[in-house]
Amino acid sequence: MDLGLKNKIALVAASSKGLGRASAEAIAAEGARVTICARNADALEKTRAEMAAAGADVLAVPADMTNPADIANVVARTVEHFGGLHILVTNAGGPPPGYFPDFDDAAWESAVNLTLMSTVRLIRAALPHMQQAGWGRIINVTSISVKQPVDNLVLSNAIRAAVHGLAKTLANQVARDGITVNNVLPGYTHTDRIQQLAEARAADSGKTPADIIAGLGQPVPVGRVGQPHEFGATVAFLASEQAAYINGVSLPVDGGYINAAF
Ligand SMILES: NC(=O)c1ccc[n+]([C@@H]2O[C@H](COP(=O)([O-])OP(=O)(O)OC[C@H]3O[C@@H](n4cnc5c(N)ncnc54)[C@H](OP(=O)(O)O)[C@@H]3O)[C@@H](O)[C@H]2O)c1
Repeated sequence: MDLGLKNKIALVAASSKGLGRASAEAIAAEGARVTICARNADALEKTRAEMAAAGADVLAVPADMTNPADIANVVARTVEHFGGLHILVTNAGGPPPGYFPDFDDAAWESAVNLTLMSTVRLIRAALPHMQQAGWGRIINVTSISVKQPVDNLVLSNAIRAAVHGLAKTLANQVARDGITVNNVLPGYTHTDRIQQLAEARAADSGKTPADIIAGLGQPVPVGRVGQPHEFGATVAFLASEQAAYINGVSLPVDGGYINAAF
């Protein structure tokens, strides 16, 4: 299937590693030009060089998704360098784990800034370019926590739901401009973040990191954790011409982990 992404212009946020990188690679593999960004400039440059060596037309712009000026800059640099912007994948590091008593107002505000306001600001800066082109795709990376709260992730459980409310509202309003808005909900996926978590838990428990990863996959109907490229392929499809009639959905990529009928 031709996804129709040749020469489209994409910005994938928080993309030197993990789900963001896998999404950027999948979109670039279909012939789109892609901007990647992250805070650590060295890691970002390494990813840019590896993607370019694999044939991608890729621009790297260091940016912190908690900083409004960085967000405006990465969108402006993309438009300046490639001549427009058609596809936006919003993403950032997750808010810290913890239970309700662990967080004061400052912690809540910081998580809102990271998770909700980065999405708001990215979309606000990108949308006029999509409207000008009469074509656009907005894809928000969120989490299974919006459908099934995760025990010690109160900030994620609460604030990611706001991203879904934003996306569904916007999906109704911009569809006639040729723009779709969708959310993708990763389940446990074997990125660096999960590997680090497994190494930390292994050190405490006497198990190997591989045992910990296998344990995370146990409750998943597919029987394993996901791989980043499986997530990236889903994002690339939602970004495609072929996905023009998928709008306002929240799609889990979780091997069936969420235990709900709808
Ligand atoms: N992997 C999973 O199983 C899973 C499941 C559900 C939800 N999620 C969510 O999916 C998102 C991505 O997770 P991941 O597993 O791909 O993480 P990861 O492997 O740790 O990669 C995170 C990427 O985001 C960048 N980043 C982090 N904070 C940033 C910020 N403030 N501004 C710009 N870039 C930033 C990191 O680079 P720098 O550190 O250099 O900035 C890195 O490139 C997170 O929100 C996570 O909570 C992941």
